[in-house]
Amino acid sequence: MDKQLFNDAILRACRKEPVPHIPVWYMRQAGRYQPEYREIRKKYSFFEVNENPEVCAEVTRLPVEQLGVDAAILFADIMTPLKPIGIDVDIESGRGPVISNPIRTLEDVNRMGQLNVERHLPYILDSIRLLREQLSVPLIGFGGAPFTLASYLIEGGPSKDYHKTKGFMYAYPSVWKALMDKLGEMTITYLTAQIEAGAQIVQVFDSWVGALSAEDYEIYIAPTMHHIFSEVKKTGVPTIYFGSGSSHLLEQWNQLPVDVLSIDWRITIDQVREKGITKTLQGNLDPSLLLAPFDLLKERAKTIIDQGKKQQGYIFNLGHGIFPEASADTLRKLTEFIHTYSQNQ
Ligand code: CP3
Repeated sequence: MDKQLFNDAILRACRKEPVPHIPVWYMRQAGRYQPEYREIRKKYSFFEVNENPEVCAEVTRLPVEQLGVDAAILFADIMTPLKPIGIDVDIESGRGPVISNPIRTLEDVNRMGQLNVERHLPYILDSIRLLREQLSVPLIGFGGAPFTLASYLIEGGPSKDYHKTKGFMYAYPSVWKALMDKLGEMTITYLTAQIEAGAQIVQVFDSWVGALSAEDYEIYIAPTMHHIFSEVKKTGVPTIYFGSGSSHLLEQWNQLPVDVLSIDWRITIDQVREKGITKTLQGNLDPSLLLAPFDLLKERAKTIIDQGKKQQGYIFNLGHGIFPEASADTLRKLTEFIHTYSQNQ
């Protein structure tokens, strides 16, 4: 790849260096809002797309080509590494991951195998290598964080309140610790392998951890997250940590050896900076605004950029993922607006 043509704005933002424009990408930028994706899914199941490097690379590239975003994110799911270690997971359309053998005991935890990425997920590494040849923007690798993975493993599917997960955590603290340790090691192994194959940034999705109080986060989660980020830091590749509804945890996140914090719309960037948080920030447009009149969407994006660009180290994104009702055309116009509005300012 010709270095001159390579757009490294997002890597610069991760490192808090000056940028030619505010970099932007969208969580869940590949998915059912795209007619092309829906066509591909008529031919292949979710995991078939995931397991076929040619198709996986095509789906990963689509939003980069169509929307003009500054990064690609590998097409996979947070549940991808759990399948080969003995978890019977299926993705139910419109619902999410469903597990037929939920975790209930220490024996269940011990029965989960050890992830060997070369052996279990060679197609993930092949997709990454292929994409690095094809892309002229950085490739983001990713994994699910232990709490968020555990919520599916224990609930057996999506949940609104996480009562079973939290009940398990309070009632069996030593089994919980064994589960966090196991998922933590798996995450380190998985992210490191993606980086060795060519991932240039990695994002850890802790989508549901905001369900915990700050006190419980400190006791039950922070040690594992600290371990994950300190291990991945050794690779030198920038790391991003995302959670929704997690603003009450930001002071604790700021203590982690992670480079970028990805926030949602329940807090403003100014408010985060007022807390003394100096890490690069990513976010935080409410994805529902993708359904608003374009002028309103633009106004809200403008406010976010104005706050974000006050300090070096800002990446535009949504506060959570794109959803099927969103329009690719709106996202393309939004991307263009962010680039022009933020250029040379
Ligand atoms: O474009 C990208 O962002 C990369 C691909 C990606 C997917 N899932 C593909 C996917 C990424 C980064 C994820 C992460 C993921 N998966 C998270 C963290 C992000 C978040 O949204 O909080 C979570 C919690 C999951 C679990 C999961 N998998 C959910 C909640 C769903 C959606 C259920 C639905 O049907 O709305 C899935 C399925 C899934 N993962 C789809 C896609 C494109 C839709 C599946 C389909 O094609 O039918």
